[in-house]
Amino acid sequence: MSDKKTELSDAMKKKMEPKTFKKNPILGTKFTIAISSAKGGVGKSTFATNLALALTKSNCKVGLLDADIYGPSIPKMFNINEKPKSDGQKLEPIIKYDIQCMSIGFLTDEQTPMIWRGPMVTSAIKTFTQKVSWKDLDFIIVDMPPGTGDTQLTFSQEIKMDGAIIVSTPQEVALLDVKRGIRMFDKLGVKVLGLIDNMSYFVGDDKKKYKIFGEGNVKKTAEEFKKDFLAEIPIDPLVGNSGDEGKPIVESDPNHLVSKIYLDLANKIKSIYL
Ligand SMILES: Nc1ncnc2c1ncn2[C@@H]1O[C@H](COP(=O)(O)OP(=O)(O)OP(=O)(O)O)[C@@H](O)[C@H]1O
Ligand SMILES: [Mg+2]
Repeated sequence: MSDKKTELSDAMKKKMEPKTFKKNPILGTKFTIAISSAKGGVGKSTFATNLALALTKSNCKVGLLDADIYGPSIPKMFNINEKPKSDGQKLEPIIKYDIQCMSIGFLTDEQTPMIWRGPMVTSAIKTFTQKVSWKDLDFIIVDMPPGTGDTQLTFSQEIKMDGAIIVSTPQEVALLDVKRGIRMFDKLGVKVLGLIDNMSYFVGDDKKKYKIFGEGNVKKTAEEFKKDFLAEIPIDPLVGNSGDEGKPIVESDPNHLVSKIYLDLANKIKSIYL
């Protein structure tokens, strides 16, 4: 695989040229962790919601920020239909499953397409990081949109990010984008905590693991970039269905194999930060 394909575009490199950025912390939280991947549809939102739930069940106070302005997922994955209250200055996050949540999807209806230019996206991100009354949180988990665009840049350059977790599926084509994503965070000085191999295998009725999308590719990428390989998560229809029904697997079935993987990971993250 040629390196050229995973390089950042010239426009992106220009935007990332060194300037002195003032990185503001999100008020009301100790640590901010991005769930990213550059590639679309690999399970970032599924991962972000379940990790937020697992950290909550491990006694952490957690916020979940849906940074996907064009395609928000949190309203559906957490089955939230209310609108956040505002005191004219700040928005109140909506609390679901003990998690403080914010998403552009709470403010618009599901059918309305977001036809916004880059600066509008940046200003929405600023509202969500500076004008939401996040309260006494240990972690804010940020569900990033796909790509290496304005949202990732705004977070990395203007907000104090304490880590990024990169989600991938095992296919080479996903990993091409993932490598670009890792390079972006490295270049912008955001610590990549490690990689997740999502939809890594399927457990058959015979209890054997089947590596349907190829074996070892995410781990190899982690080694190549000297990042930790954090976990492999199987593909399981229950994981998809529970998200679609608004109650992700860690909440709907905490004893499920996948939920246990998330709970182990939550403990790992807790031990890194707290
Ligand atoms: N481990 C898994 N097992 C089964 N289905 C999964 C798993 N992880 C994710 N999915 C399903 O894959 C689809 C894509 O997941 P998700 O929306 O979380 O991806 P995403 O990376 O956030 O996508 P986007 O880039 O559009 O934001 C969803 O239908 C989800 O339910
Ligand atoms: Mg998503």
